[in-house]
Amino acid sequence: DWNMPDYITEAIDKIREQVGSDEVILGLSGGVDSSVAAALIHRAIGNQLTCVFVDHGLLRLDEGKMVMDMFAKNLGVKVIRVDAEAQFLGHLAGVSDPEAKRKIIGREFVEVFQVEADKLPNARWLAQGTIYPDVIESAGKGKKGQTIKSHHNVGGLPETLNLKLLEPLRELFKDEVRKLGVALGLPHDMVYRHPFPGPGLGVRILGEVKKDFADLLRRADAIFIEELRNTVFEAAPIEGIDSGEPPRNWYEATSQAFAVFLPVKSVGVMGDGRTYEYVVALRAVQTLDFMTAQWAHLPHALLGKVSNRIINEVRGINRVVYDISGKPPATIEWE
Ligand code: XMP
Repeated sequence: DWNMPDYITEAIDKIREQVGSDEVILGLSGGVDSSVAAALIHRAIGNQLTCVFVDHGLLRLDEGKMVMDMFAKNLGVKVIRVDAEAQFLGHLAGVSDPEAKRKIIGREFVEVFQVEADKLPNARWLAQGTIYPDVIESAGKGKKGQTIKSHHNVGGLPETLNLKLLEPLRELFKDEVRKLGVALGLPHDMVYRHPFPGPGLGVRILGEVKKDFADLLRRADAIFIEELRNTVFEAAPIEGIDSGEPPRNWYEATSQAFAVFLPVKSVGVMGDGRTYEYVVALRAVQTLDFMTAQWAHLPHALLGKVSNRIINEVRGINRVVYDISGKPPATIEWE
């Protein structure tokens, strides 16, 4: 049986033993994993930790403000915010292959870190919120021997980055990471936030990433999440889905929910006019371990409301579809 206070004590001892008096930098994405890693490492070594929050222009709506409020203001963690939107979008221009996009985003992250690390001459460690499923999936091979999906935060660092890797969540599953976060005093809503991939909207805009697409997607996604949170959840929860309290709404009753931008135009009507605009797909899944997942049976009325709001409020989108694919054979993300 897993004893949380003992686990935290052990994890803290291990971190202190590993890093000694060195300084550590951590890439804070706003996702659950890096946030819990930051809280754990901050608990262990306090001001020896500096977090780097990279705004790559592929974040959710208001993500930057939320992260800065949570960590810098409330927890007193040292956080450097880097505005790197132009840098990331510049390098992504003209690139449509999913793995190529991940590689670029991963590479730019390393570069941004290197620049920040150079400003911290005592930094010897790069901390990451890598969790156990990331480790397995990156090691997994597809039928033709290719990596199923490369996770930019797994796989070691290039020689040029003179930092050792600190990955205190490497042995944990998602539910354990969440319990750890709560035990470390992070707010429930932050810890039970859906996970967000490191490459962010970069893998939720199919094909080439453009700023206009990201802006549309951010707004559509925020509407979807807001409506999920505004529901009252009445159906019985899936056995074992959340180890804590029963879900209060459809946001809490799903493991991950988001909008995907499809760079495909379809015909619609608005008033007397014909429209020819882009499509947004909604994805909502329930899963225990993110290795397999089922699509969430969201109420039709909820889906209808989200669809109406997105089409009415986000000019440039005239069609919304709902993804009813399980994992496997589909993955949770579309890229
Ligand atoms: P898939 O799409 O493989 O997603 O079913 C499983 C979980 O992993 C997340 N994911 C990523 N996380 N970098 C990350 O940090 C990535 O490149 C990446 N790709 C997928 C995904 O959001 C889901 O929670």
